[in-house]
Amino acid sequence: TQHAERQRVLDALRLSREQLLEVKRRMGEEINRGLAKESHDQATVKMLPTYVRSTPDGTEHGDFLALDLGGTNFRVLLVRVRGGKRRSVEMHNKIYAIPQEAMQGTGEELFDHIVHCIADFLEYMGMKGASLPLGFTFSFPCHQNKLDQGILLKWTKGFKATGCEGEDVVSLLKDAIHRREEFDLDVVAVVNDTVGTMMTCGYEDPLCEVGLIVGTGTNACYMEEMQNVELVEGDEGRMCVNMEWGAFGDHGELDDFSTEFDRAVDDCATNPGKQRYEKMISGMYLGEIVRNILLEFTAKGLLFRGKLSERLKTRGIFETKFLSQIESDRLALRQVRSILQHLGLTSSTCDDSILVKEVCSVVARRAAQLCGAGLAAVVDKIRQNRNLSELKITVGVDGTLYKLHPHFSSIMHETVRDLAPQCEVTFLQSEDGSGKGAALITAVACRIRDMSY
Ligand code: BG6
Ligand code: GLC
Repeated sequence: TQHAERQRVLDALRLSREQLLEVKRRMGEEINRGLAKESHDQATVKMLPTYVRSTPDGTEHGDFLALDLGGTNFRVLLVRVRGGKRRSVEMHNKIYAIPQEAMQGTGEELFDHIVHCIADFLEYMGMKGASLPLGFTFSFPCHQNKLDQGILLKWTKGFKATGCEGEDVVSLLKDAIHRREEFDLDVVAVVNDTVGTMMTCGYEDPLCEVGLIVGTGTNACYMEEMQNVELVEGDEGRMCVNMEWGAFGDHGELDDFSTEFDRAVDDCATNPGKQRYEKMISGMYLGEIVRNILLEFTAKGLLFRGKLSERLKTRGIFETKFLSQIESDRLALRQVRSILQHLGLTSSTCDDSILVKEVCSVVARRAAQLCGAGLAAVVDKIRQNRNLSELKITVGVDGTLYKLHPHFSSIMHETVRDLAPQCEVTFLQSEDGSGKGAALITAVACRIRDMSY
């Protein structure tokens, strides 16, 4: 029957507990491979040292600029941090668009645009000519030899400006500042958004030692023992490691769980073969997975009366916000239908709406479970590092998919609880983005720098 045929297709996207445990196990393996010097080059999960050695302690102090590039919005921020008993953080920020041309043109164009936005912001704040220390949240994989350097390993999430990969983004930024000849900036730290989020949440909760992003892309960071961070000299204390877990699966670790729809999405992306885990989880790709499934159903005559519309053939029509809306519990089927109509899918019936909603739900559930399996590996790794039978830990989280989707977070939490039963994990949602965290990191770096002068 038609029902059985649809369920057969969807069953490939339903993962069993055993499969999820296997994902957790493989993630654990990749973590160790990425940390160890001898196997690092073959690892998909790069476990990049960040040179951030502690979470905030409330003594951070000063005025800082922050840039936040790589999520839905590009922001420039002014962050005023007051330490001590009456500690407080005051933030002003402005959101700027990154036009498609800047994302996909030359690196010079991209960084000129960024500097243009900084100039506009300084003017807007009445701070023209001020030279404050700056923390740069740059949410892409960077190789760091120190805090104020970040060599871009590869673009992700649809960015492809030329001439940036292999370059230090601090130099690219400084070059652009010099080209403009209007002001100078003291770039003190390059910070991944996961790290910024961990620090932002760590300001409120000292148990926060993991940062997680589920937005346009997905990634995590956590405090690892220095003795395990083999790429950096020294055995004392801990260092935050940017996992870049989105690349998990790039050597086939997820092939037995992925489907023809995942392959179709991967083939059409700007970075085919790369970021396979991210492409099964994050906001930039879930809508495309759904669209590919709907295409298949329609071609088989199981949906939209078998009529393939031009709209349905269009890449990117299914934005994440539609996935979140369609799955909202308060939404009647009639409204699902009107969302479909809004997407130009006009000839839908009530049965079509039910099926579309089911497809969205299966795809989002798989994403949340895969993400939970990865996180279970991370918290268990931390627990084992500390030789504990029980670990209490907080995960700082940010990202539009996590925040807006009606079920993603609860399914993810449940998965972590199930797959890492020895860890008591609290999830703390960041309300301030990662710019605040970048400023806290900058504050500590400035203090250490001033002390050693
Ligand atoms: C924001 C951070 O709050 O979350 C960004 O400040 C980050 O730096 C983002 O990239 C992730 O979410 P999204 O959904 O915008 O990709
Ligand atoms: C991508 C980036 C990573 C970032 C994540 C979330 O995976 O490579 O650096 O943290 O997206 O924004």
